Amino acid sequence: MEDQAATLREMARQRFTSVGAESAATAAAEASALEGLSVPRVFTITSGKGGVGKTLVCANLALCLASAGKRVLILDADLGLANIDVVFGLDSEFDLSHVIKGEKSLCDVIVPAPGGVRIIPAASGDEELANLDDNGRLNLFAQFEALEAEIDYLLIDSAAGISKNVIFFNLAAQAPIIVATPEPTSITDAYAVIKVLSQDHGARHFYLIVNRARNEKEGREVYETLLRVSDRFLKSVMIECLGVLPEDTRVNRSIRSRKPIVMLEPAAPVSRAFQELSQRIGGLPARDTNEGYPGFLRGRSLLQTR
Ligand SMILES: Nc1ncnc2c1ncn2[C@@H]1O[C@H](COP(=O)(O)OP(=O)(O)OP(=O)(O)O)[C@@H](O)[C@H]1O
Ligand SMILES: [Mg+2]
Repeated sequence: MEDQAATLREMARQRFTSVGAESAATAAAEASALEGLSVPRVFTITSGKGGVGKTLVCANLALCLASAGKRVLILDADLGLANIDVVFGLDSEFDLSHVIKGEKSLCDVIVPAPGGVRIIPAASGDEELANLDDNGRLNLFAQFEALEAEIDYLLIDSAAGISKNVIFFNLAAQAPIIVATPEPTSITDAYAVIKVLSQDHGARHFYLIVNRARNEKEGREVYETLLRVSDRFLKSVMIECLGVLPEDTRVNRSIRSRKPIVMLEPAAPVSRAFQELSQRIGGLPARDTNEGYPGFLRGRSLLQTR
């Protein structure tokens, strides 16, 4: 986003020096109008197997992006087992269930978290919410429309597996970020998610984060295995590896102290890996105009056209 804006400013500057003040003013106006078109990026953090580190990734990635000056909103979409607020050490009075029941607006339930991140908490153990119906999801999207100008990144912390909600949030986002660990069951389940999203729902582009790797090589092997199997059995699926996060006992300490690892131990290898990851995500190109927030809001059409 920023790169694009910088390029536009540079184009305006070059035109100023080459074609005189009048057209330069027009070019500058064009550039700033185009800058206004930069839209929030939306990523769903998802996995096949549970407990592989989605919430950890979501919280720490959000903090790294926020420390780079980005406005980040996390949507806790793990509607059955919500816990992103717990990771940040927050106790929220209201949550997504109040929005869906129409008792609160989305803005009312957003809680400020440490580091400048903002969170939309979900209710834990709310069965009704876990089985959100199409109307509930539509209502939610309508509420998101008002937030577009306030955020640069929307990170969606999804539940594990391939429930209707998980599929929905993944398709609404710019691209799913799949978290997998080197455990064979995690790799198999990550493949299952990619298979369902691509074969049954037309998703083509996936990002991968390998978590809890003993070393870089082990992480690469997870990526290569997934690539090999999907190249062989799935049609035109693209998987890009965004990074490998090491296993680190300090992660558990940070969870116990309810303070994300990048805040508690910013110099730890896993925290540095999170910084690199956030830079890579910050540098990802938007691939077409349907991506990012407009695509997310257009997720409503996923429901309306069915
Ligand atoms: N890099 C790591 N090093 C050490 N332990 C880790 C690491 N990543 C995750 N863990 C452990 O795995 C646990 C589960 O992480 P997390 O809650 O983020 O997973 P999840 O995918 O969000 O789970 P769920 O599917 O239940 O939502 C953490 O509480 C932590 O103990
Ligand atoms: Mg989680």
